[in-house]
Amino acid sequence: MIGTNLVIENIKKRQSVRLFEQKPIPKNIINTIIEAGNLAPSTGDMKEVEEGGKKKIINYQPWRFVVVEDPEFKQKLFQTIEPLRSNFYQGLKKTVPEMYEQAMKLSEMSEEPKDLVFYSAPVIIYVIGPASNSIGCAMVCENIMLAAVSFGLGSCYVGFGALIKSNTDIVQALELTDKERIYGPIVLGYPKVNPNKKQVRILEELRSKKKEPTIKWI
Ligand SMILES: Cc1cc2nc3c(=O)[nH]c(=O)nc-3n(C[C@H](O)[C@H](O)[C@H](O)COP(=O)(O)O)c2cc1C
Repeated sequence: MIGTNLVIENIKKRQSVRLFEQKPIPKNIINTIIEAGNLAPSTGDMKEVEEGGKKKIINYQPWRFVVVEDPEFKQKLFQTIEPLRSNFYQGLKKTVPEMYEQAMKLSEMSEEPKDLVFYSAPVIIYVIGPASNSIGCAMVCENIMLAAVSFGLGSCYVGFGALIKSNTDIVQALELTDKERIYGPIVLGYPKVNPNKKQVRILEELRSKKKEPTIKWI
């Protein structure tokens, strides 16, 4: 059918997933998803390399990946970030009540023990790159999320997950330098197969309609 194909279908299928099965993701799938991220467009590096007797400018690809599966490390991440997330939403209670209410609905939907930062996802992928390379790194993240869809996985870009600077153990474990920034992180997992009635209702309530694109043709 003209107007659609597998890539377009994947793009349309992608939506933030915040309810996951507690089922591990095979390592080869995680690696393939990361390889897809790594193939994102990249500026060229100034370094030249010899290839077949010719000098070539290499792809910069300044990003790297940290995959978090360890439950203890996830707990450490959650305990560091949750107070910041919670404070942020408390602050919105008066200024942007709609956003506060949304956060409350997410909380109502999530299962115990509630994790409103990473949604108890089995895998968290930290995309780490130079602060100066936000465009390239954002493209990496989108590749990851679209590749995830192609394996039947759900994902969510969880900006709160980057708020780890106050915990030096975490900074060290991620080997985060002053020049680097966290993009994402992105949580990954198999979407919950049978959400209960309340969860289905809240998912429907939270689903926001996408705007039509604004286009000017010249
Ligand atoms: C920069 C950025 C940060 C985000 N941070 C969070 C987050 O911390 N927690 C969360 O649940 N969703 C987060 N999201 C996901 C958005 O809420 C989501 O993409 C948006 O509501 C549109 O829904 P969709 O992804 O289903 O199309 C973030 C998205 C972006 C682009």
